[in-house]
Amino acid sequence: MAPMDGITSSPFRRVVKKCGADVVFSEMIAAEAVCYKSKKTLAMMNFHEEERPIIIQIFGNDAEKMAAAAEYIENEVQPDGIDINIGCPAKKVVAGGRGSALLLEPERAIKIVRAVRDFTKLPLSVKTRTGWDKFDIQPLAKKFERVGADALTIHGRTKKQGFKGEPDLDAIKEVKKAIKIPVIGNGGIYSVKDAKKMIKETGCDGVMAARGTLGNPWIFRSLKLNKEYKPNFEEVRDLALSHLEMSIEEFGPKKGILDMRKHYGWYFKGFDGASELRKKLVLSETVVEVKEILANMG
Ligand SMILES: Cc1cc2nc3c(=O)[nH]c(=O)nc-3n(C[C@H](O)[C@H](O)[C@H](O)COP(=O)(O)O)c2cc1C
Repeated sequence: MAPMDGITSSPFRRVVKKCGADVVFSEMIAAEAVCYKSKKTLAMMNFHEEERPIIIQIFGNDAEKMAAAAEYIENEVQPDGIDINIGCPAKKVVAGGRGSALLLEPERAIKIVRAVRDFTKLPLSVKTRTGWDKFDIQPLAKKFERVGADALTIHGRTKKQGFKGEPDLDAIKEVKKAIKIPVIGNGGIYSVKDAKKMIKETGCDGVMAARGTLGNPWIFRSLKLNKEYKPNFEEVRDLALSHLEMSIEEFGPKKGILDMRKHYGWYFKGFDGASELRKKLVLSETVVEVKEILANMG
């Protein structure tokens, strides 16, 4: 499963693991905050053994800080790999010269990947886009490979496209042809059909789903079964409840319940009375209340 800021925290990662995801990613972690040991940032890297293999994704603009963060993460957090974010288009990230802004500073991007490579023995991947405003990532992809990246994820959209439009499968195909390390295709994976198309048309070595997992962590079961898996209401309800319990255990009752609100909207779609149910859930303030609401449905 793809890294998603504000979403791929430990509870949701455990949910998708249960549903069959092979590899999960943390939310993007600010390297600088790791360096000054921000409590909040360090807590974002907590994970449970059952989440393995788990990759911690870092972002930043300074090669030394990125390398120091990677070294700290290898020693103290001990994930299964480190990923470098060279694709995030969010304004405040780009303003700091981080994420996709590094596409405008290729030498700095290469320096960062090389520095991180020098400071960690963990598998190292880079997640990027097809380019800033046009498809031109191949030379940089080759350089990432040359300085020691072990794998590359390509989100088939430019920074300019953001999250809209069809992913450019031809671009992913070109990148796959240009480098020897594994290429993971990302963008627009909502079904088995989408994943098959991505693999067939690009020749990529794996696919990474992001928004397609929201409310549908079963997408991974579908991919394993090679046919769409449609959970019934009881299954959705039970998974949402177990997600809520993990959320509370991880974040405490207040944030745990608050954090689930967005997920209810995603989980409970398309059932009879779904919109009424979502309204009630979003207003609920205790687990007992949520359990009661859910128990009275279905
Ligand atoms: C809410 C949200 C948060 C995201 N946060 C991250 C992130 O922290 N790191 C990252 O590399 N990509 C992040 N992404 C991008 C996704 O990983 C993925 O590349 C993108 O959504 C395209 O895949 P999709 O079309 O399957 O959603 C985020 C996307 C969304 C929608």
